[in-house]
Order: sequence, then C-alpha cells, then structure tokens
Amino acid sequence: MKEILQQIKEEVVAGFVACGYDEKYGMVSLSNRPDLCQFQCNGALAAAKEYKKAPIAIATEVAQKLSGNEMFAKCEACPPGFLNIDLSDEFLAKFVSEMASDKDRFGVEKVSNPKKIMIDYGGPNVAKPLHVGHLRSAIIGESIKRTARFMGDEVIGDVHLGDWGLQMGLIITELKLRKPELVYFDENYDGEYPSEPPFTISELEEIYPCASGKSKEDEAYKEAAMTATYELQHGRKGYQALLSHILNVSVSDLKRNYEKLDVTFDLWKGESDAQPYIPDMVQKMKDDGFAYISEGALVVDVKEETDTKEVPPCMILKSDGASLYNTTDLATLVWRMQDYNPDSVIYVVDKRQELYFTQVFRCAKKTGIVPADKNLYFVGFGTMNGKDGKPFKTRQGGVMRLEYLLKEVEDKMLEKIKENGTMSDEEAEKTASVVALSAIKYGDLSNQASKDYIFDIDRFTSNEGNTGPYILYTIVRCKSILNKAKDVDALATILPAHSDSEKALHLELTKFMAALSSAYEDMAPHKICAYIYDLANAFNRFYHDTKILAEEDQTRKASYLKLLTLTRDILEQSIDLLGFKAPERM
Ligand code: ARG
Repeated sequence: MKEILQQIKEEVVAGFVACGYDEKYGMVSLSNRPDLCQFQCNGALAAAKEYKKAPIAIATEVAQKLSGNEMFAKCEACPPGFLNIDLSDEFLAKFVSEMASDKDRFGVEKVSNPKKIMIDYGGPNVAKPLHVGHLRSAIIGESIKRTARFMGDEVIGDVHLGDWGLQMGLIITELKLRKPELVYFDENYDGEYPSEPPFTISELEEIYPCASGKSKEDEAYKEAAMTATYELQHGRKGYQALLSHILNVSVSDLKRNYEKLDVTFDLWKGESDAQPYIPDMVQKMKDDGFAYISEGALVVDVKEETDTKEVPPCMILKSDGASLYNTTDLATLVWRMQDYNPDSVIYVVDKRQELYFTQVFRCAKKTGIVPADKNLYFVGFGTMNGKDGKPFKTRQGGVMRLEYLLKEVEDKMLEKIKENGTMSDEEAEKTASVVALSAIKYGDLSNQASKDYIFDIDRFTSNEGNTGPYILYTIVRCKSILNKAKDVDALATILPAHSDSEKALHLELTKFMAALSSAYEDMAPHKICAYIYDLANAFNRFYHDTKILAEEDQTRKASYLKLLTLTRDILEQSIDLLGFKAPERM
C-alpha cells in the first residue's frame, strides 16, 4: 500500500499544480500542532518567494482547489501561509480497512530492490561466560535482522565468536598445570585424541578467570600462556584438539543462552575461521604496495584528507609477525565476500570500537578486499549502566552474567504475577519468562542504540509507562476482549470513527508503514518501540471510553472488533521484529 503521507501529498501536489505552482511545494508532513490538525503543508511559505505573492494568498488558493476532495475533512489556509489538513473519517476508515485486509503485512510492501546483507552481531568470546556487554549486541542485531527480513532482504546472521585470542592460551596453560597427564600435552603423541572433552562448561568457566587472574600477577605464567597461544596458532596438534573441545563445549552453552533470548544465528563462524585466509591476504597487500613496515609492524595507511580526527594506520601484523584483531576482521571479510558476496555487512558492536572499525572498513575498501560498491556499516551501541550510572555490575560488584540477569528479571515478574494470583504455577512461570524477556529487550531497544542507558529493573518490569510489559499488557487486553467476543467477523468493515479516541486510534494505525520503513532504513529499532508505544496509548484511550462488547449496533461492534484485531496484529508483528512475544494472559 502507498503510505498515507504519500497519498496525501499526491493530492496536495495536484492542488498546487492546478493553481499553477511547482509540484515541489506540495510537501506534506505530520502536524507539529496535533491540537490544530493532523497534517500540514508549509509549501506556500516557500512558494511565496518564487511567485512574489503573499503566502496566505497561495495557501488560500490551494485550499479552495482542494475543498470538496473526499480525502479531507478540512484543508484550510492559516496565517502566515500554512495549510492545515485533517483527513475525512471515511478516508481514514477506508485506509485502515485496507491495512486490515492485507494479512500479515498490514500494508507494508517489501523493498523493490532487496539486498543480501550479512550481519555480524553477538560477538561472544568462547570460554568466557556471556555477560551483559554481549546482551546489547545480540538484542539490537536480532531486531535489525528481523526487520530487514520483513522488508524483503536476504539476511545472514553471523555470531563471529571470539575464539582466537590469548584466552585460549590461558585455558591451555591452566589445564596443563592441573592435568599434565592429558595426551593433549604430549608432543610425541600421534594417535587419535579422545572425543570426550576433558572438562565441563562449569569447569571451563572457572578455569578462564582463574588463569586470567594468575597471568596478571605472574609474568612467567603469562609468558607460558602466550607461548601456548603461539603454538596453538601455529598448528600444534594437541592444542588444536583442545581448541575444538573448548569450542564445542562453549558453543553448546552459548546456544542454550541465546535460545533463552530468542536470538538465532545462521552462521557460527569465529575468528579462528578467518586464519587460513591471512597469509594470502597479507601477501597481496604487500604485492599491491598497500602494506609497509613501520616501526617493525606491517601497516596500511587509512587516513583521509577530510578527517577531522586522526585515524591511525591499520596494523596488519605485529613486529613479531603475529596477527591481530584487525587482521582477523579483514580476513573474515575475505571469506564473507568470497563465499557469500553480500551487498552490505552490518556490524553491531560496542561504540567504543568505532574508530577501530573505521580503520578496518577503509583498509578493506582500499586494498580491494571489499569492492567499492559494497557497504560496510557500523552500528555502535552505548553502555548498559546500573542505577549508579556506572557499567552494570552484580551486587557484589562483579561482571553480571547474562543468565543471572535473566533469572533476576524472571523472578521479579513471577512475584508480580503471583500477587495477582490467578494462574497455575506452571503458567505463571512460563508467563514470567515471556514477560521478562520483553522487559529486558524493550528496555534496551526503546533507547537509541548509540546512547548509554540505565538498566532499571523496577521501571522495566512495570506494567505502566514506556515498557515491554505495558505493550504486552495492551496486546493481552485486545486478546481477552476478542476471546470474550467469540464470533469475530473477519470480513467486517471498519466504520468511520465515532469518537475522538477512535479517530486517534485510526490515525495511529495508519502510521505503521512509515514507522517500519524508517526503522528499517536507519537500522533503528527504537523507532518501532516509539511507534508501538504511541499505538498502545491510543488503543488504551479508545478502550477506556468505548463500550466494545456491550455495543448494541452489531455492525459497529463488528467494526470495533476488527479494529482490535488489527491493533493486536500490528503490535504482535512489531514485537516479533523487536524479538519477543506476548503471552495469552498476564
Ligand atoms: N568479541 C568481540 C568483543 O567481545 C566483539 C566482536 C565484534 N565483531 C567483530 N567482527 N569484531 O569485544
């Protein structure tokens, strides 16, 4: 369907043209004085200069031309030269009806030029527990992915595991200390390695922080870990076998955690998958004259004349020949282009890595790893802070693990649900976990991604205000009325609004298309949140001053129920794009 603003604009443009003015003056926007009108056109003010006429005279002419147009209830010229526009109730109702009859898409058309997009999000580090820092990437990335898919793009999500750094060497070193008898440490061993991992996930999670702590105090220990990392990266067989165990054990744990978050990845590639591409990539950079030695390290210059801040060279290899985070990201782009050839790659990463990604992107383009016509986007997010304004921690001051955070929010929701006391324990628990996820995700996504935000469990779990549970509450309210109504006529038409609150609800529904396309274009899930919050408010106002089930006029009642169905469906579609679901009851 054509967006409502577009439809209005076409009429207004026709009005300007019919009066002899250029079509460019027919621009229409949402009114910035909703108390006066729904839409406005400021074109007469701009046209005044070109046509040397008073703006109000132009506006009056156009308003007269448009009078009698069935789309408008009002189109009036207001000093100094605005056109104030209200849609007719009939047009609004017809538009909303049309949305309702477009099952599953509610008027939203797919993009005409779908793209292939790869999205790099999640970014957990193997063997380290998932913590809240990784939460944002997963939540935001998942929503961007779902939205782009809904708009018709082909989207491939890649978790991009951190599985290649010193953390692997640290684990190996600690394990060697604890269980030196394991065959993985015997350099002369050339048999098959056991298929059972020599540790469980809880052991692994205990080993890493222990090793990391030791390495900070003990120089020799750190040295050993670095050597182990080097040996692992240079093909030592026993260590590589250990790496696969670490990976397997970690990945199944990560999958379990992401499943709880309703986040899924198409690819489970990691930094280690990029390693085979490094030698050729580096050689080519040298051959093409892009990479040169500076202070022992191999670098590529990436500064540009227009830079206002210094952009240091992109380091490709350290002076000892070791590869870095950069090298891995560049080599990852090599296989992404070779194997998938996406039109664009989107990275959803902590905004503190922005400069780093500027370097990587420029280097990738400059050296031809990524062709000039492809797009690389960085979606940087801010920090999730505690109520004290500092990065979110546990009560004991440690790094908060994702599982514990989820559990805390679930418990809080469960408590609330039990207070109401109408559900079985089993249903209460299920509902609590569904609602908790909405609290966490909406709490995150309703902020512009690049901003820091405060994780306020009391606010996020509240049924009132701009929260996930409030949205779910609204959906559940629609569902409950529809359930009570029993026979809902799917073919009923939506009648012109009977009251101001009903009209306001119609108007809010018409904005769905615009909200989605701007959330999609700007990769900005917060725009979906802002939209559904307005929609939920409009619906609740309508609900409070309308007797729906008690309505005696059956056609009107059917129209109300149809309106409820559309509201519910749009809200549910929207939260699906945000990555959570609504329960049947709350
Ligand atoms: N593992 C990284 C971290 O924890 C995030 C990875 C982001 N993605 C990337 N392609 N570098 O900071």
